[in-house]
Amino acid sequence: MGKSLGALIFTGFLLFLSFFTSPSQAQTCNGLALPSNQVYSTCVDLPVLTAYLHWTFHQENSTADIAFRKTGTSPTNWVCWALNPSGGQMVGSQALVAFQQPNGSMTAYTTSIDSLGPSMRPGTLSFRVSNLRAQHSNGETLIFATLHLDANLLSTNQVWQEGPLTSGAPSMHSTTGDNVRSIGTINFQTGAATAGGGASNSRLRKRNVSILGKFHPPFP
Ligand SMILES: *[C@@H]1O[C@H](CO)[C@@H](O)[C@H](O)[C@H]1NC(C)=O
Ligand SMILES: *[C@@H]1O[C@H](CO)[C@@H](O)[C@H](O)[C@H]1NC(C)=O
Ligand SMILES: *[C@@H]1O[C@H](CO)[C@@H](O)[C@H](O)[C@H]1NC(C)=O
Repeated sequence: MGKSLGALIFTGFLLFLSFFTSPSQAQTCNGLALPSNQVYSTCVDLPVLTAYLHWTFHQENSTADIAFRKTGTSPTNWVCWALNPSGGQMVGSQALVAFQQPNGSMTAYTTSIDSLGPSMRPGTLSFRVSNLRAQHSNGETLIFATLHLDANLLSTNQVWQEGPLTSGAPSMHSTTGDNVRSIGTINFQTGAATAGGGASNSRLRKRNVSILGKFHPPFP
């Protein structure tokens, strides 16, 4: 008990140090402040595309309030975050998409990715999504939503992406580099997230952020 408490305090201290002493390093969840007084209990640093997922899971009604954050985004790009219960891949992704319209207002909607050349037009998902909205400021895009999670979605695959807008609509993203590595798993209940598609991938970089989550300072 004493030992684990000491380890937790030490971990907290390291987080504190890394937050205040390494401004030149890549941002992590711990250094991110969400606007609008949004507070979430858990956050994971997604391994590529400078993206982060914040969420609070409510056991009593099996919902997760999420904020997907993508930094370094241009207003001429779309961003998306998805769950894919069918596998660690693009096809089958149940996606939330957001981008800025020519008049400056943000649009956010759901779309089901049914093929490698999807329409990316608004459509319904295999699960319910409410409170969907997005914002773009200071080179960051945020997508907020409440996900109504069936049992098979509590631990599943997540996919995230960024691509260009063409004539005000999403067009094909890059098919090389980080844009084809933006797949992992997520467990809404434990806070565990892994990088890479499929649980059998030996190159998975495992993360268990459920302890880290408890040390997150309240986001100002
Ligand atoms: C789910 O339950 C939580 C905790 O009671 C509550 O704050 C939240 O509003 C509920 N969400 C929905 C969509 O009913
Ligand atoms: C911006 O354009 C979209 C799409 O044409 C429209 O739905 C929305 O109402 C517009 N917003 C404002 C603030 O004019
Ligand atoms: C993550 O940590 C929590 C708390 O220590 C534990 O209950 C859970 O099983 C862990 N999950 C994984 C995938 O290691």
